[in-house]
Amino acid sequence: MWKDIDISLEKTETPKPKPAVEELGFGRHFTDHMFRMDWNREQGWQQARICSYQPFEMDPAATVLHYGQAIFEGLKAYRGDNGQIYLFRPLDNLERMNRGAVRMSMPRFPVDLILQGLKALVYLDRDWIPEANGASLYLRPTMIGVDPFLGLKPADNYIFYLIMSPVGSYYAGGFSPTKIFVCRDYVRAVKGGVGEVKTAGNYAASLLAYEMANKAGYTQVLWLDACERRYVEEVGTSNIFFMLDDTLVTPPLGGSILGGITRDSVIKLARSWDIKVEERPVTIDEVLAASQDGTLKESFATGTAAVISPVGELFCDDTGYPINRGEAGPLAERLFEELQAIQYGRSEDPFKWTM
Ligand code: COI
Repeated sequence: MWKDIDISLEKTETPKPKPAVEELGFGRHFTDHMFRMDWNREQGWQQARICSYQPFEMDPAATVLHYGQAIFEGLKAYRGDNGQIYLFRPLDNLERMNRGAVRMSMPRFPVDLILQGLKALVYLDRDWIPEANGASLYLRPTMIGVDPFLGLKPADNYIFYLIMSPVGSYYAGGFSPTKIFVCRDYVRAVKGGVGEVKTAGNYAASLLAYEMANKAGYTQVLWLDACERRYVEEVGTSNIFFMLDDTLVTPPLGGSILGGITRDSVIKLARSWDIKVEERPVTIDEVLAASQDGTLKESFATGTAAVISPVGELFCDDTGYPINRGEAGPLAERLFEELQAIQYGRSEDPFKWTM
């Protein structure tokens, strides 16, 4: 059982100017306040507080800086046309983070308390939630190990914090179809490893391949499985879907793939529209052959930051494979519209996803 913890509040005395919608981009600006809570092995979680956005002091030997004990989440708050503020599936993010904590030998946290702190923080900084369609407030809960100790063991001290950033599109091109480089040289994750955990090291390890693809003119990398380099896993930091004939196909979660909340929402929405959805292993050869014989109708990536991102081309082994003539497909468009409508409170929410 968690003991009762109060959340204290210390408001900033120096609120910052807010960026104009055109200047937003992704993750560049931060709101006036943050949430923080500390954990140590003797006392558990304590000192939950909302305070001004501020730097931490951390020992140069801190566990996170050397051994990467770090997990995070990404979720969004939206300003609806009716002035209401909507959170999209926040409990799913917090529960996924707690599962990640177990895998990374970090303490679990009380979800109810964090949700209470998260709502209070969003409400306090509500004027930072952009009004423009497609813009939102991106929330980044994070937990790090901070022991000043160089021996390798799970830390005895952790900081949980939550910061918020008003954002526009993740990709500069917005909903424009991306060009994706199929990566055979590097892998993102292995089964039994931490691919299904939102842990910092997964993202650091992906950067070299991303940089190489980007320099060659591609938006992102398509990751293949670590063993045979045949099975499609993810694209960039997102899950991937292919419309193969009349079936929407996405790789199954098997430990090396992040169980995306947008991925799950897309599967549920598509099934509710009577679209056949299969979570099954899919090889890159099957996808490329389908692109050539015309049965690959469209492809798109899903994630919190980018929402739905159509794929216009796959580049593999020196050959480009256009998808849907390089244009966004109808299903990607329909899913994007419907997800946004639910997220901004403009349409029915049959799955009770918004809060
Ligand atoms: C997200 O989609 O929320 C992510 O965490 C990806 C991150 C690289 C922005």
